Amino acid sequence: MSETSETRPDNHPEISLDRNLALDLVRVTEAAALAASRWMGRGKKNEADGAAVEGMRRAFDSVAIEGTVVIGEGEMDEAPMLYIGERVGAGGPAMDIAVDPLEGTNITAKGGPNALAVVALAEQGNFLHAPDIYMDKIAVGAGLPEGIVDLDAPVVENLRNLARAKKRDVGDIVVCMLERERHAEMLAKCREAGARIMLLGDGDVAGVIAAGLPDGGVDIYMGAGGAPEGVLAAAALRCTGGQMQGRLLYEDDAQVERARGMGVTDPRHKYSVEEMAKGDVMFAATGVTGGAMLRGVRRFGHGAFTHSIVMRSKSGTIRYIEAHHNFATKTWQPE
Ligand code: FBP
Repeated sequence: MSETSETRPDNHPEISLDRNLALDLVRVTEAAALAASRWMGRGKKNEADGAAVEGMRRAFDSVAIEGTVVIGEGEMDEAPMLYIGERVGAGGPAMDIAVDPLEGTNITAKGGPNALAVVALAEQGNFLHAPDIYMDKIAVGAGLPEGIVDLDAPVVENLRNLARAKKRDVGDIVVCMLERERHAEMLAKCREAGARIMLLGDGDVAGVIAAGLPDGGVDIYMGAGGAPEGVLAAAALRCTGGQMQGRLLYEDDAQVERARGMGVTDPRHKYSVEEMAKGDVMFAATGVTGGAMLRGVRRFGHGAFTHSIVMRSKSGTIRYIEAHHNFATKTWQPE
C-alpha cells in the first residue's frame, strides 16, 4: 500500500503539532532578529535588546501554546516583557519556554559576529530553572563515549581523552571559550597542551552549539558563562546529541538563596545535558549578525533576509531556514 497523509505514522496529530510548533518557533526568533538587526553596530545594546524582546514577545502571540517563560529576561519586577513566569502564546498545550531574544547584546552593539535570537521549548517542568548567575560549562559533540570529558577532570586530561576518542592529536583539537580574565589559567593549560583555541568576545550559546555540530569547527567548549545561556545551549545539544555538564557558580550567599528559591536543592550539583533540558525539546535560533553557523540579517528596501536553525530532539532533525521577508505585505513590521 502506498503511504498517504492518512497512513503515514508521523502524521499523527501530536507529532504534527510538534513539527508545526518547531516552524512557529523560527518565526519567533526571526521576529526578534529582524527587530534587533536595526541596532547593529550603533553602540546601543539596551535598545537592541529591547527591540528583540518586543519583537519576540509579539511573535509569541500567534504560537498555539500555553507557554510559561522559565528562562527569560529576568524577574517580573526587572523586565517588562518575557519575564520569568510570564504567560505567552495563543493557547494550546502547556509548554515551558526558554528565551534569549538577543544573545550577544554587546556583539550587536559593535556589529561583531555570532549574535543570535534564541528560543527553546519543552513540556512543562523540563527545563532547569537557572538563576541569572554564572555556570561552569563543558560541552562536546555527539558520537563520543559517555563521560569522555568532565568538569572535574584536569583540562589536559579532558583534551587528551577527547583527542584519543576522536583519533586525533591534541594539536588538532579546537577549544572554544569566552575571552575572560577568569579563564586565564584554563587558557594557559590548553595552550600548553598544544590545542588550538577559539576565543569568543561574547556569545557562548553559539560556542556550545558549534561544539555540538559535526561541522561546527569546534571540538570542545569550556568555561564559565551565563547559567540561562547554559540551559539554552543544553536544549540545542539535546537536539544535536552532544554531551554537556554545567555547574552553577555563586558570587555570594544571596545567589545561593536565589537558586534555592528557584528549586535548586544541591547548589554544587553537576547537571547533565538531560537534567538541564529533559524530554522532547525544540530549539530555534536566527542570526542577528553573521557567524560561522548562521548568516546575519540582511536588510533591503521593504524587506529583509534571515537565516535560522531549528532542531527537534525527538527526530534529531536539524534544519536551516532562509527566509525572505516582505515588509510591504505585513500588518506589523518589526521596527
Ligand atoms: P548578553 O547577550 O546578555 O550580553 O550575554 C552575552 C554573553 O557573552 C553570554 O553569551 C555569556 O553566557 C555571558 O554573556 C557571559 O557573561 P560575562 O560577559 O559576564 O562574562
